[in-house]
Amino acid sequence: MIKVSLRLKAIADYIEKNAKVIDIGCDHALLAIMLVKSKIVNKVIAVDISRGAINQAQKNIEQAKLESKIALRLGNGLFCLASGEVDTIVLAGLGHHKIISILKEGKSKLKEINHIVIQSNTNPLLIRKYLCQIGFYIEKEKLVSEKDIIYPIISFKRGKQKYTKKELILGPHLIKENSPLFKQFIKKEIAKQKQLLLVIPFQYIHKRRQIKNYLKNLQVVNDK
Ligand SMILES: C[S@@+](CC[C@H](N)C(=O)[O-])C[C@H]1O[C@@H](n2cnc3c(N)ncnc32)[C@H](O)[C@@H]1O
Repeated sequence: MIKVSLRLKAIADYIEKNAKVIDIGCDHALLAIMLVKSKIVNKVIAVDISRGAINQAQKNIEQAKLESKIALRLGNGLFCLASGEVDTIVLAGLGHHKIISILKEGKSKLKEINHIVIQSNTNPLLIRKYLCQIGFYIEKEKLVSEKDIIYPIISFKRGKQKYTKKELILGPHLIKENSPLFKQFIKKEIAKQKQLLLVIPFQYIHKRRQIKNYLKNLQVVNDK
């Protein structure tokens, strides 16, 4: 029996009924299996760049008897997608650099996409900024706490909307909701960024600058 996480469940809850989904960085295909089993969608394309991950995913899909519903592909991001195959992208459990580079490299494939669900392990500010820059708005977002980590999960839809700097840093919907988990998240983010600055070598100037900028913005919000 595969144990499914609260984080993946929260991502699945953001997928629309009968959407045509690609899960990039599917790892063991747990999300794809969950999406099909719970009848949210009928088919999923699940992609991973790691042969090991794909092998395990294959086993899990066979065990769930979902070979006809989950198309497993070994490859890099959106490169393994043909035109018209999907309208929804999931990118979860990856850092913001990787997520943005996958979207940049696959830009030509984004024309048919109207929904992107992202759970970035790092810097949601840069994720929100980039997605809004390429023609998406923040439809909804939530925080999920699992094993002492708080994950922001953001649903982007095609369209334009203007945001304040604070909204891009923290999320317009999360700010409005202002839950106890949100306050905890800000504190944890500040501690995480400080820790990162201690371990990232000084020669990574750009990376350190991004972290410092994010940290400064978080601290401004936290002090208010
Ligand atoms: C930490 S796992 C996250 C798995 C799953 N999405 C989740 O949220 O639990 C990240 C996965 O992304 C895959 N990955 C990294 N870069 C990728 C790329 N450019 N294209 C496809 N998969 C990638 C890795 O091999 C790994 O299996």
